[in-house]
Amino acid sequence: MKPIKIVVTDYIEPDLEWERQQLARFEHVHLEAHQLKFAPQEDLVAAVRNADVILVNMVPLTAEVIGRLDRCRLIIRHGVGYDNVDVAAATARRIRVAYEPDYCTDEVAEHAIALMLAAWRKLFVGRQVLEESSRNGIWNFDAIYPIAGLRGKTLGIVGCGRIGSTVLARLRSFGFQFLVCDPYLTATRRAELGVPVVPLAELLPAADIVTLHAVLNAETRHLIAAPQLRAMKSTAYLVNTARGGLVDTDALVRALRERWIAGAAIDVYTKEPPDPDFSLFGLPNVVLAPHLGWYSEEANWSIREKIVEDFVRFIEGRPPRFLINQELA
Ligand SMILES: NC(=O)c1ccc[n+]([C@@H]2O[C@H](COP(=O)([O-])OP(=O)(O)OC[C@H]3O[C@@H](n4cnc5c(N)ncnc54)[C@H](O)[C@@H]3O)[C@@H](O)[C@H]2O)c1
Repeated sequence: MKPIKIVVTDYIEPDLEWERQQLARFEHVHLEAHQLKFAPQEDLVAAVRNADVILVNMVPLTAEVIGRLDRCRLIIRHGVGYDNVDVAAATARRIRVAYEPDYCTDEVAEHAIALMLAAWRKLFVGRQVLEESSRNGIWNFDAIYPIAGLRGKTLGIVGCGRIGSTVLARLRSFGFQFLVCDPYLTATRRAELGVPVVPLAELLPAADIVTLHAVLNAETRHLIAAPQLRAMKSTAYLVNTARGGLVDTDALVRALRERWIAGAAIDVYTKEPPDPDFSLFGLPNVVLAPHLGWYSEEANWSIREKIVEDFVRFIEGRPPRFLINQELA
């Protein structure tokens, strides 16, 4: 049988022994794993050049890299967002691109809800207030007051696909008014959601919390920049568990410093991990998480199983579970 080479560009698992075991029955399949997230492009090209299948986590697979692949037929993005893969370049070279969009929907929704509640209830400031009050022997809530009640407040959901609609479903009992902005929902889907679907310009000034769940692409990059932040209520919070690139970070820093908005809760960054002098560190009105929306032990195993399933489908000549460039179906 013709040998098949699977190259992993970068991975977050401790090792890929489990994946190797799953593939051991295919003697002609060879899995080669690298950690090339910060490697020079030449090292990346050298590693992937003669791969049949590439599994990529965070490494950018640019048009230039894709242009230098000799025989690749499938790129699998380890995750939901695929903004680090130039899909158009892959399609032009007739390379299928697959992803795993169905492994952590509940987790990201739960993370977004945890972040919005933590920001709204000022939980992280609460810890400092508790310790200070303990040292002084008297309560002082000045750093926390005021907190408004959530019932009747408006939650704006930007991007209402798998994760956005799960946030909506999970929060229906909270007594929120909901507004959704998603220009690509079908009429059927809109009717199923049963909440107003409005343009972003209408959602922003009305929402008390804006939670981002849109994909990152050329259209949505900096969807939230200075004008959008200025359009929000000064008492509102912005939550981003989608992609760092959706938000103009410099504008967000200004918005938080100058109190155009009350606060933010962020899980995702344009550079990951951010540099030690990252501009959001040190601001009191932002809750920061380390891009772990996807994570639970269950989700972590689920994606490994789904990726192995896609490997096996490729080996057996079947299409991947979720193909992005449908024109190559
Ligand atoms: N924090 C994490 O660990 C983590 C994990 C998984 C996914 N994500 C991110 O979460 C986001 C949502 O994932 P999903 O599985 O729900 O994807 P999805 O494809 O199911 O939904 C994305 C939605 O965004 C909408 N959209 C596209 N352009 C838009 C625009 N201009 N304005 C508003 N909406 C727009 C689409 O119509 C779609 O309904 C993605 O950005 C993904 O990368 C983050």
